[in-house]
Amino acid sequence: MQPTEQPNNCIITIFGASGDLTRRKLLPELFNLFRRERMPASFAVFGVSRTPHSDDAFRAEIRSALDDGEDPVPAELAESFCSHLYYQPGDVTDPASFAALAERLQVIDREQGTGGNYLFYLSTAPALFADITDSLAAHGLHDGGDAWRRIIYEKPFGYDLATARELNDRIANVFHEDQVYRIDHYLGKETVQNMLVFRFGNGIFEPLWNRNFIDHVEITAAEHYGMEGRGKTYDRSGALRDMFQNHLMQVLGMVAMEPPARFNADALRNETIKVFQALRAIDPDEIEDRVVRGQYTAATIDGDPVPAYRGEHGIAPDSGTETYVAVKAFIDNWRWGGVPFYVRTGKRLPTRVTEVVVHFKQTPHRLFGESISGGGRNNQLIIRIQPDEGILIKFNMKQPGGGFEMRTVNMDFHYGDLANQYVPKAYERLLLDCMLGDATLFARRDALEACWAFVDPILTAWQTPAATKLHGYPAGTWGPIAATDLIEGSAGDWRYPCKNLTDDGEYCEL
Ligand code: BG6
Repeated sequence: MQPTEQPNNCIITIFGASGDLTRRKLLPELFNLFRRERMPASFAVFGVSRTPHSDDAFRAEIRSALDDGEDPVPAELAESFCSHLYYQPGDVTDPASFAALAERLQVIDREQGTGGNYLFYLSTAPALFADITDSLAAHGLHDGGDAWRRIIYEKPFGYDLATARELNDRIANVFHEDQVYRIDHYLGKETVQNMLVFRFGNGIFEPLWNRNFIDHVEITAAEHYGMEGRGKTYDRSGALRDMFQNHLMQVLGMVAMEPPARFNADALRNETIKVFQALRAIDPDEIEDRVVRGQYTAATIDGDPVPAYRGEHGIAPDSGTETYVAVKAFIDNWRWGGVPFYVRTGKRLPTRVTEVVVHFKQTPHRLFGESISGGGRNNQLIIRIQPDEGILIKFNMKQPGGGFEMRTVNMDFHYGDLANQYVPKAYERLLLDCMLGDATLFARRDALEACWAFVDPILTAWQTPAATKLHGYPAGTWGPIAATDLIEGSAGDWRYPCKNLTDDGEYCEL
């Protein structure tokens, strides 16, 4: 994508428009594009959901959502943006309601001059994805002739490998793969994309990026909040489906992929899928040694009582859903043979941090004895995805003074130092890419199924609760002790990151 390329005129139809995602992310980030003059010259956003709203009520709701955002919104600009919004109540479970939608789309298309280009965004319950897809086809909305038709599917895409395949099959009956955009908002994050530039735009890191120099890699996505009102939905998925199968596996793909020959959607996605396919399958009898699942228990954090997961609204008192998962993965190829990748994610951990830590091998000979302060013996490269986005390298130097004592010091870059540089938010980037027809940062069918294929045996093993433990961990801690055992030994311990990139330690402040 060229930085200034402008998308074609189009209508974006959002199914599930009364949902939280529309209000919190989709419309505010489309507004950001509008504000930066990156929306097409003519466009409309058409909201569809069951709630009986008028165009005006929808506009007023989105107008107030824009005002609730972090940045002040110029009133005139917001009004102008909202004049492009339309709404129609519709029951998407009723195929007949699509006739009315198709008609309304034609009216809006004529009114706004959007040239018949339609982008559909499915932000409904995932169980409805296949039926909506069929209903769009039944009314000819999937094929625009000379105009383009594209469709974005929100996550979760499937519940396991079988359901993901089934959904993909149903979609493939209607849309060509190049019309299908499976969104993973982690790929829209600037810092995740920067991993490609960091790895393939610099000459100094790539020669070290392999089993000869790297001891192990950690990938962490920690969240300090609990259910935030979405307990019922979360309880059906759990950490493995909610974060690991999609976001964290995509990050793993970026860290571990081979350099593509060209920078385009196919070349890039051809490389990430090879990583997923090379992941060593986890046998049922290895699950306990390679996967730790946990669920938070009640605790007091900063003097405030925090309920256990099972005490959260909408969660069954005997729920066996995991709120934490740690996986020890291996990528069986020439680059990574024998290098463990430790990947963990959890709710109600001490802080909100997502990062990748590359641990380099120790020097072959300890020339300067055992004594070292301020860190570990091995060099670390930390790619911070959020917050305090940046890159940190930890290396050792001579402690000033007599003798040859070593200490670990930091070399750090923070995105925050790039003053006045606008960093687009994830949905903003991805919505623009989709309007431009660029699928580079979206999951392709084969890759998505390869990710499910890795996760599936874990889910199957967990169906026999007696066979795998669900470890408790007090809310506000770094997860079950068993997760430390997973990494301990060969790799030492996890890094305990803090909000500030350069700080770490088990007891950091939020
Ligand atoms: C979503 C998950 O996909 O990602 C949520 O469903 C999670 O449970 C969220 O909180 C994390 O996204 P981010 O961008 O805040 O890291």
